[in-house]
Formats: sequence, C-alpha cells, structure tokens
Amino acid sequence: MLNKKILPLFLIVFVFGAFTSSATKSPKAPQELEMPENVKAIVKNSCFGCHNTDSKNDKGKEALDFKALNSLSKTKMIKSLREISEVLEENEMPPKKFLDKYPDKKVSDADKKVLMDWAQTEAKSLMK
Ligand code: HEC
Repeated sequence: MLNKKILPLFLIVFVFGAFTSSATKSPKAPQELEMPENVKAIVKNSCFGCHNTDSKNDKGKEALDFKALNSLSKTKMIKSLREISEVLEENEMPPKKFLDKYPDKKVSDADKKVLMDWAQTEAKSLMK
C-alpha cells in the first residue's frame, strides 16, 4: 500500500533528477573522462587501492593509475580503457591472489558489465 504510492513518486523524482542534471552539465572538456558515481564506486572498491598514484603497489600503479587517467594523452587514455575492458573480460583483475584474501573485492557480473560498458563507451567517444 505504502510502496505502491511511494515507488512511482520516487521514480519521477529520480528520472527528473537524472534528466535535469545531464541537461545542465557543462560541456565535456576535450579528453576529460567522466566517471559516473556507480563506476567510481566499483573502481574504488575493487581497483583503486592498487591503481592510484599513491599506491604502494608499484607494478599496479605503473600499469594503470586511475588518478592520472585524465592527464594521459588521448591515445594512452584509449589504450588504458581498452585494457580495463580486457582484464575484466578475461577475469584477470583484481588479481586472484588478492581476491583469495579479500573476496568482497570481487567484481560481480553486474558490476563487471557496468565497468566494461563505461570503458568501451568512453573509448569510443574519444575516437570520434
Ligand atoms: C591487489 C592489487 C590490484 C588490484 C586490486 C587490481 N589490480 Fe590491476 N594490476 C595490478 C598489478 C600488479 C598489475 C600489473 C602486473 C600484471 O599485469 O599482473 C595490474 C595490471 C592492470 C592492468 C594492465 C593490464 C595490461 O594489459 O597491461 C589493468 C588494465 C588493470 N590492472 C585493471 C584493473 C582493474 C580494472 C581493477 C579492478 C577491477 C584492478 N586492476 C584491480 C594489481 C591490481
């Protein structure tokens, strides 16, 4: 009873919010990657620890630095996005050893799709 009333209201607010926020967003700066909150959350949970400028994992941050993505050349940015999509497709990341220790860092199938779709869409839009 309560849910029936609240759910449509919630949806309206949500859809309206999504609509207006994208309409008022400033135009995309050239070469600037946009990371929606849901993508950020997945990266933060499963990737960022090893793949950021301040990571203690030297090999990891050399291979990919999420903090520095936006300062890469366009070509390198596209390459990184492709690699992100590839390692997810092949289930190479996060590394198996790491997941044995921290099983909650595993990327679920749904999250994997979100992350791969994001990487592929961004790579495509950079190639335009
Ligand atoms: C426990 C640390 C760790 C975590 C967590 C981790 N990585 Fe990595 N990653 C590494 C290391 C170390 C390398 C480089 C050595 C290698 O290729 O195995 C690497 C390499 C990579 C590469 C480059 C692969 C290539 O082809 O050169 C990509 C892209 C990548 N990781 C993406 C991710 C993504 C996306 C996530 C989250 C879903 C993630 N990583 C989580 C440690 C990590």
